[in-house]
Amino acid sequence: MQTAPHDFRTATIPHSDPKQTPLFGDAATTDIGSRVRKYFETSGFSRWTAIYGSGDIPPIWRVIRDGHQRAIDEVLSFIETDKHHTALDAGCGTGNLSIELANRGYEVDAFDVSAPMIHFAKYINTGRTKGIPPNFMVGDIASLAGADKTFDLVCCLDVLFHYPYEEVATMLTGLAKLSSHKVVGSFALRTPFNDFWMKVGQRFHAKNRMTKLFMFSYDQVEQILYRAGYKMARTKRIKFFFYDSFVFEAVRR
Ligand SMILES: C[S@@+](CC[C@H](N)C(=O)[O-])C[C@H]1O[C@@H](n2cnc3c(N)ncnc32)[C@H](O)[C@@H]1O
Repeated sequence: MQTAPHDFRTATIPHSDPKQTPLFGDAATTDIGSRVRKYFETSGFSRWTAIYGSGDIPPIWRVIRDGHQRAIDEVLSFIETDKHHTALDAGCGTGNLSIELANRGYEVDAFDVSAPMIHFAKYINTGRTKGIPPNFMVGDIASLAGADKTFDLVCCLDVLFHYPYEEVATMLTGLAKLSSHKVVGSFALRTPFNDFWMKVGQRFHAKNRMTKLFMFSYDQVEQILYRAGYKMARTKRIKFFFYDSFVFEAVRR
């Protein structure tokens, strides 16, 4: 099982200061942003490092692991024939996608708002790539400064559903500015069926949940990307039991 060798939640974690990297500015963190960060630094850290690892986990988490792997495979199929060199993996988690990109020859900058997650990603991915190891950093998508640096490819997989529409609009616009060719990401698709189950879930679990799930229509996301100078190229809804992620590839118009 891919477990942490020591407690990453309480360890003193040496990590890059987001303000010292040219990618990030000073945007104020929203209430939702603070809650999401806190979740992924504490209980969410344990949960998602287990789900994204390779050890034994409960069957219900296994569904998420297998569904997520299908989403990663879809992202990799979107970039299969690209001759790109640089990539940014925003909200990289344990770095599963970052490593796949590095193995395909990309120079990868990867960041996550959770410092323990980045520490863990650095730890488990040491020596795991044939290519240049990803540069893992702590940082918040909401505070991307739209810096001088751009990337051929910008990815943001299974992150945006933690945020409401206005915040997603700011985040996706910031990510799009940092890409010179392609943005690949995912969101939770709003459908009557998903709406119904979300309401049921909120009724029974709302008090225990540190994060909320926000769903969007295809048109809402397409519009944000269009305004940012992109058009949708390919999409695929990855539905595997209850794992449901709408993966998209957007290219510059
Ligand atoms: C469900 S995990 C997905 C991880 C990774 N993208 C993947 O697909 O393997 C969501 C990750 O997004 C990170 N995250 C959430 N909000 C973020 C933000 N505003 N900026 C950067 N990372 C964020 C969390 O800390 C967590 O590691």
